[in-house]
Amino acid sequence: MTTTDDAVAQGQEHFDALIAEDSRVEPRDWMPADYRKTLTRQVSQHAHSEIIGMQPEANWITRAPSLKRKSILMAKVQDEAGHGLYLYSAAETLGTPRSELNEQLLSGRAKYSSIFNYPARTWADMGAIGWLVDGAAICNQVPLCRASYGPYGRAMVRICKEESFHQRQGWEILYELSHGTEAQKKMAQEAVNRFYGPALQMFGPPDGDSPNSQQSMAWNIKRFSNDELRQRFVDMIVPQAEALGLSLPDPDLAWNEERGHYDYGELDWEEFMSVIKGRGPCSVQRMKRRREAHENGAWVREAAAAYAERQAMASATHQNESSTDRPRPAAQLIGATA
Ligand SMILES: [Fe+2]
Ligand SMILES: [Fe+2]
Repeated sequence: MTTTDDAVAQGQEHFDALIAEDSRVEPRDWMPADYRKTLTRQVSQHAHSEIIGMQPEANWITRAPSLKRKSILMAKVQDEAGHGLYLYSAAETLGTPRSELNEQLLSGRAKYSSIFNYPARTWADMGAIGWLVDGAAICNQVPLCRASYGPYGRAMVRICKEESFHQRQGWEILYELSHGTEAQKKMAQEAVNRFYGPALQMFGPPDGDSPNSQQSMAWNIKRFSNDELRQRFVDMIVPQAEALGLSLPDPDLAWNEERGHYDYGELDWEEFMSVIKGRGPCSVQRMKRRREAHENGAWVREAAAAYAERQAMASATHQNESSTDRPRPAAQLIGATA
């Protein structure tokens, strides 16, 4: 064996031991190329979803029914931006620069969660999105706090805390509406009717049609299968819907005494595949908006780069001068020009 082969064999052995003992793999550790590739794809798609996911709700900030609702919604949308940033940082530790990940999104090569290609038609949709979409995200993401890749798992801990607030605020919007006028209750019910199916699809295709899941579970990235997570979500939302006084649009939904779970009806996987392929009701609009936002943000990136360059120059000057202990001019400290 060559020295390279030896190093790979040793790396693989170390990696296998980390997975076997359910420890964390860190950026410094050797990892199989497929593990790196799978995680880069998963974490960056997750980041893209957080960023694109800001759009349906940001669209309602100016139309929120009160100052209180407006500030809560703004905080929620800002949280999603933060989630995107943590996740891009985690993805970068796997070796692909953020500019490239962003390019994959803007060029349409990367995917993001299909749920964000649905429109938010009424104020009640803010409730349905928070309760069902963020609720499904929590079910999916809590087990990811234990994902084998350290930076991803740690990012998920904070994200999940914020997602819990998001779900709660969505539930509260729906509660107020479902206990309001007849028209408000109808609006809440219609929003739930529209988001229920797509929210259940957020867990991905049924286990039999999800070949990559097995490998992700063997690597301790994924802890439960798509169908297990979906079942957990259904079991969670049925009593919550009862507390809201709203129904879930599924005639097959029924408690199964034998299984100890709720049965639910077949989902529309044809629609799911069509949305995934970019034919969702808002797919074109979402990508157009993201590209515009990226272009409009060019001046911010240029200013940040210029500032970083000045900081680096100031720090180099400081290092040269520190031997003589001369005080630095304030302009160098803040990176300002003369
Ligand atoms: Fe989020
Ligand atoms: Fe959220």
